Amino acid sequence: MSICAFIFDLDGVLTDTAEYHYQAWAALAKELDVAFDRQDNEQLKGVDRMGSLQFILDKGGLQLTASQKHAFADKKNRHYQQLIEHMSETDLFDGVHDLFAQLKQAGIAIGLASASKNAGMVISRLGISQDFDYVADAAKIKQGKPHPEIFLTVAQALGVEPAQCVGIEDSLAGLQSIIDAGMQSIGIGDAKVLEQAHWIYPHIKDLQLATVLKQAAN
Ligand code: BG6
Ligand code: MG
Repeated sequence: MSICAFIFDLDGVLTDTAEYHYQAWAALAKELDVAFDRQDNEQLKGVDRMGSLQFILDKGGLQLTASQKHAFADKKNRHYQQLIEHMSETDLFDGVHDLFAQLKQAGIAIGLASASKNAGMVISRLGISQDFDYVADAAKIKQGKPHPEIFLTVAQALGVEPAQCVGIEDSLAGLQSIIDAGMQSIGIGDAKVLEQAHWIYPHIKDLQLATVLKQAAN
């Protein structure tokens, strides 16, 4: 099947915001007196804001009212937004401009499937907003990753069949979302975490586009 679209996750794939999400959740977990480490965080990658908060509350056996939950989620988000305030074009991972240029050259559409409600701001700071043919609005997605809705929404908006899409993710939840959407998958990061992906690269700059396109066509 020839590939017509590449659909990217943002945090941890195109820039290092996954680390800032971790730092902000870790600070909140500490305030709530809940043990939370990088291994716990692996399960939060890709998971939306309220789902992530619920994971921490469950881990600590804490029960809060809906308004308390919203207050803590807002607090985490304000902290996260402070951490990304300084971001600029220099924070785009190496290799992204090159990869986007190669995709455009090959006539392959570029989509964004980020669970983050801050995604628009982040891609604007990175100077890549204009590179996308379609950017999903996380606020309109009803079922977050690992559900396939967000990847399917982007494919539909691009007018491309899921089987003609490659999804790129650094998170377990996101990878499941791609697989359940019936797309081919690229994992960026730890091969042990992302072993189910069709292709795995430690970093986006290592992605071998020619190899992926050739193997995807077979
Ligand atoms: C995902 C991140 O991209 O977005 C998660 O991997 C984050 O860590 C989620 O919780 C939601 O982000 P935001 O910016 O809407 O709180
Ligand atoms: Mg991610």
